[in-house]
Amino acid sequence: MAQDNKETEESDKSRRTFLKAMGIVGIGVLAIGSLRGVIQNIIPPLSNAVSSFPTLTIVSTSGKPINTTDIQVNNPTPFLFDYPLQNEPNFLLRLGDINNKDMAIKSVKVNDPGDGNSFVSAPGVGPYNSVIASSAICQHLGCVPPKIEFYPPSSSSFPGKIHCSCHGSTYDPYTGFSIVTGPTQHPLPNTQLSYDSSSDTYKVMGMVGPTIYGHINDLSGGSALPSTSTTQVSSS
Ligand code: FES
Repeated sequence: MAQDNKETEESDKSRRTFLKAMGIVGIGVLAIGSLRGVIQNIIPPLSNAVSSFPTLTIVSTSGKPINTTDIQVNNPTPFLFDYPLQNEPNFLLRLGDINNKDMAIKSVKVNDPGDGNSFVSAPGVGPYNSVIASSAICQHLGCVPPKIEFYPPSSSSFPGKIHCSCHGSTYDPYTGFSIVTGPTQHPLPNTQLSYDSSSDTYKVMGMVGPTIYGHINDLSGGSALPSTSTTQVSSS
C-alpha cells in the first residue's frame, strides 16, 4: 500500500513537471509570435523593389553573351530584352543605312513635349557605334511588340522608324527615339548600353528620357528581374 502511494506521488510529480514544461514552451511560442509581429511592424517585409538600375550582360536564351554578329543590321524583328524590371520589353537595334551598312548614332538633344523637358539621348555603342536600345512599350497607351515595330530604312512604310499600330505613334530611333507623329506626347525612353571590345559583349546599365509608360518611377511598379547579372533576349 505504501509502495502504491509512493508510485502515485511520483506519477503526479512527473505529470506536473510535464505540464509545467509545456506551459513554459507555450508561453515561449506566444512570446515569439507576438515579438515577430512587433519586429514585422518595425522592419517592413522585403519586396522586389529595385533601388538602382542594375548593370546586366545581354545574353541569348542559352545564356551566352550576345556578340555583334548576333545582332543583324536593320533587323525588322529585332531582339527584345526585359529591363529594368520583368515584363518590360526593350528593343536592341543595330542601325544601318538603306544598304544595311552600320551607321554611327550620336547623342542628340531630344524634346519631350509631354512634360516640357528635354534630355540627351543615349549614343550608339559597339564597333561601329550603331547598337542602341529603347523601351519597346509605346509611350501613348502602352502597346508592346508586335503592335509596336521597327521598320528598316528600306521599308516602304515608316522607313527607318518605330511605329505603333495601336493609334499611330511613330518614333525615330536615329535621333534618340524622338517623336515623329503622335498621339504620343513622349519619346521612347532610351536604354543605356555599354560595349566591351575585348569580349565583344554588351551590357545594359540604365535609362534616360521619360519614365517608362505606366510607371511613376522606372524602378518601381513591377518585379525585379530573375537574374542580377544577365537579361535574356527574345525576338520581337
Ligand atoms: S499605344 Fe501606341 S499609339 Fe497608342
